[in-house]
Amino acid sequence: MHAKKITALLPVVLGASLLSAAPARAQAATPEPDNGTLDVEQLFAGTCGFCHSDGGRAVGKGPQLMNSPRDDDFLRNRIAGGKEGAMPAFGGSFTGPQIDQIVKYIRALKPR
Ligand code: HEC
Repeated sequence: MHAKKITALLPVVLGASLLSAAPARAQAATPEPDNGTLDVEQLFAGTCGFCHSDGGRAVGKGPQLMNSPRDDDFLRNRIAGGKEGAMPAFGGSFTGPQIDQIVKYIRALKPR
């Protein structure tokens, strides 16, 4: 139902974007998922994959995250706070619930 509504609005948005600034067009091109929900797989590939290889399944510059022996709090804190000289802090980039989502993703990792 929601998707239908967006589809109906699309021509309007696209039309408007021809007349207005680029940000409107960027929004139409990449709609954000509802209420701040992350596409963690995509996010991970783009933001974390540089150091955590194969979606977190393998060792890279950072440790393998799949089957991590660390507890959830440790993972959350590491993502939010990073580690000096090793990993950037992401506490300013993601909300608490989004970090929970990332931890869930890590816990659900399976070998490909
Ligand atoms: C610049 C490289 C780099 C990037 C980018 C990076 N990490 Fe890390 N990450 C590391 C390193 C290095 C460690 C190990 C830190 C240590 O020595 O305790 C680590 C540790 C972790 C840990 C703790 C795992 C463990 O067993 O110690 C988690 C969870 C984690 N990273 C998640 C993420 C997520 C999620 C992202 C993206 C949002 C990300 N990292 C981006 C380098 C990176």
